[in-house]
Amino acid sequence: MRAVTIASPGSGRKLAFSQVETPLPGPGEVLLRVEAAGVNRADALQIAGYYPPPPGAPPWPGLEVAGVVVATGEPGGDAVPAGPGVGDAVVALLEGGGYAQYAVARSAQTLPVPDGVPLADAAALPEAVCTAWTNLVDTAGLRPGEWVLVHGGSGGVGSIAVQLAQALGAHVVATAGGPDRAARVRGLGADVVVDHRADDVVAAVREATGGRGVDVVLDVLGGGGLADNVRALAPRGRLVVIGLQQGRRGELDLAAVLAKHLTVTGTTLRSRTPAEKAALVAVVRERVWPLLAAGQVRPVVHARVPLERAEDALAMLDRGEVFGKVLLTP
Ligand SMILES: NC(=O)c1ccc[n+]([C@@H]2O[C@H](COP(=O)([O-])OP(=O)(O)OC[C@H]3O[C@@H](n4cnc5c(N)ncnc54)[C@H](OP(=O)(O)O)[C@@H]3O)[C@@H](O)[C@H]2O)c1
Repeated sequence: MRAVTIASPGSGRKLAFSQVETPLPGPGEVLLRVEAAGVNRADALQIAGYYPPPPGAPPWPGLEVAGVVVATGEPGGDAVPAGPGVGDAVVALLEGGGYAQYAVARSAQTLPVPDGVPLADAAALPEAVCTAWTNLVDTAGLRPGEWVLVHGGSGGVGSIAVQLAQALGAHVVATAGGPDRAARVRGLGADVVVDHRADDVVAAVREATGGRGVDVVLDVLGGGGLADNVRALAPRGRLVVIGLQQGRRGELDLAAVLAKHLTVTGTTLRSRTPAEKAALVAVVRERVWPLLAAGQVRPVVHARVPLERAEDALAMLDRGEVFGKVLLTP
């Protein structure tokens, strides 16, 4: 099969479209013919040499795909009893290896393609939905009626987080860069959208919440956003950091943490164990898949790029022009 391989890790992002061995599904795994692969910032980090794949994963990037099962491994491993069979259309959360014509996935990390969602578009879902769900619900404990600030409602994760939080009955303030992107985030259902390039996000949060602040912040900025995020939180607010686009270090005003009884935390998806990922995929299937089938949450696909032009897709992310997700199509 052909895959997008890393020709020279770390040096100017040189990718190749190479002939490689088609992987074989092991116990509890399936082999997918890839219809589309989601492109993530973590892929760019891996290609740059900063984010090595976990042991056993293929060396080529790709954390999520949609495709059709063409072979199944022996039962066992962490297979679920109702795992997919040959011919089934699924999406999968991978340890790596999605930038290819075929990819191996753990059965327990696959989900059926939701009713009403085109197979290729569904590749935009696994990373974003699992990340949004686990951080908003498991980590932040977002409840109906609460306010949440979603930084980057225009992004792959943010575009899903805005819709999901709305569907869960929360009120959403979201940010986006520029008036056009802000208008599109409003179209996803956010109550208030702030153009982070032009407007003061904390002031907008206070205005939207009658001065109280938001209960939850879903943050992709990291260090550079820390002070404002703490200022934006209401008493007993929860800040969940999932991205470090403005650096890994910041100054935390502990007096505000104490006075407002705040929680400051963060998580990653990729580093979780297979059992943790299987449990997350199972709850996403139960809680989010019906929202997708009902059209309350939908994948946001910016563009489809042929697999062999993966560098162009990553460059689109670098330029900040992607709204939602960009997909690679073999
Ligand atoms: N922890 C995890 O498990 C996990 C999982 C998936 C992703 N992530 C991370 O989460 C982040 C988002 O992922 P993604 O896939 O959604 O990436 P993405 O599609 O590239 O989105 C990035 C978002 O950041 C926004 N942004 C950039 N500068 C901003 C600023 N100054 N203020 C507010 N927003 C700003 C962008 O908004 P505009 O372009 O509109 O300005 C865009 O919406 C990345 O850092 C990624 O690595 C973490």
